[in-house]
Amino acid sequence: MPEIPKTLTVATQKGGVGKTFLNTNIAALLASRGLKTLLIDADPESCSTSYPTA
Ligand SMILES: Nc1ncnc2c1ncn2[C@@H]1O[C@H](COP(=O)(O)OP(=O)(O)OP(=O)(O)O)[C@@H](O)[C@H]1O
Ligand SMILES: [Mg+2]
Repeated sequence: MPEIPKTLTVATQKGGVGKTFLNTNIAALLASRGLKTLLIDADPESCSTSYPTA
């Protein structure tokens, strides 16, 4: 039986509180542990696309 994909969303209206920091690092962590990971960057400024992860 195929595994059901899980979806995580990081969202809040307040700016500069760590949304991009959190979602990029969660994605990097999951991928580094071998999980197939898709990070969708819905920010018009595309910040997640160029964000340096720890
Ligand atoms: N836990 C944390 N500890 C220290 N610095 C942090 C932490 N989380 C985020 N930062 C820093 O705070 C700043 C803002 O974080 P980030 O860009 O992730 O916020 P954001 O909510 O995505 O902002 P925006 O609303 O502009 O998209 C960045 O410089 C980031 O490196
Ligand atoms: Mg952001």
